[in-house]
Amino acid sequence: MSHRLCPVWIGYLLASPLRKLRQNPRTILAPFVRPRMTALDVGAAMGFFSIPLAEAVGPGGRVVCLDVQEKMLRGLEKRARKAGVAERIETRLCEPDALGVEDLTGKVDFALLFAVVHEAPEPEAFLAAIRATLEPRARVLLAEPKGHVTEAEWTATLDAAGRAGLAPSSFPSLGGVRAAVLETPARAGREP
Ligand SMILES: C[S@@+](CC[C@H](N)C(=O)[O-])C[C@H]1O[C@@H](n2cnc3c(N)ncnc32)[C@H](O)[C@@H]1O
Repeated sequence: MSHRLCPVWIGYLLASPLRKLRQNPRTILAPFVRPRMTALDVGAAMGFFSIPLAEAVGPGGRVVCLDVQEKMLRGLEKRARKAGVAERIETRLCEPDALGVEDLTGKVDFALLFAVVHEAPEPEAFLAAIRATLEPRARVLLAEPKGHVTEAEWTATLDAAGRAGLAPSSFPSLGGVRAAVLETPARAGREP
């Protein structure tokens, strides 16, 4: 799988409003996000999903946005200020193999992993770190671009998620990506 980082110039393209024609963030996020939730946007880039997430969690909610590239996060912050949701968004510069989310253990209601896992050097450890942040009834939306991630690589990612304690509960059909909703055993009622 490719671990090459998405360049910043692609970050600008990913934040383009034209992308909504294929991947409408509000429609994609609607089944998962409610007011006052704490959401995690991992590999947030310039905030194509983070800003609709912040709108959906409302003034009582919080969105923590992680990225390994500072320029992506600065672009996100600028867009958040323009959209009037900056006070609900926290950006965090992380390391590829250290997300720095220990303070969020058990607090996250929804995590978005959109087009990021194939860039992580150790997908299983990456997914396990995210799993540790989840509140027992939380859900994760995992999506990987079809153009970068083959069917076999997608299966390997789902296997890594399973070993990290996240099992797929459904496979939503979203434009241009392979997608799965992941849940913890507690949510799926599989824990004793
Ligand atoms: C292809 S972009 C997707 C951005 C965004 N999720 C979207 O769909 O618009 C991947 C982003 O993940 C970030 N990234 C790559 N590896 C990462 C890691 N290990 N931890 C956090 N972010 C990472 C990159 O810097 C880039 O901004």
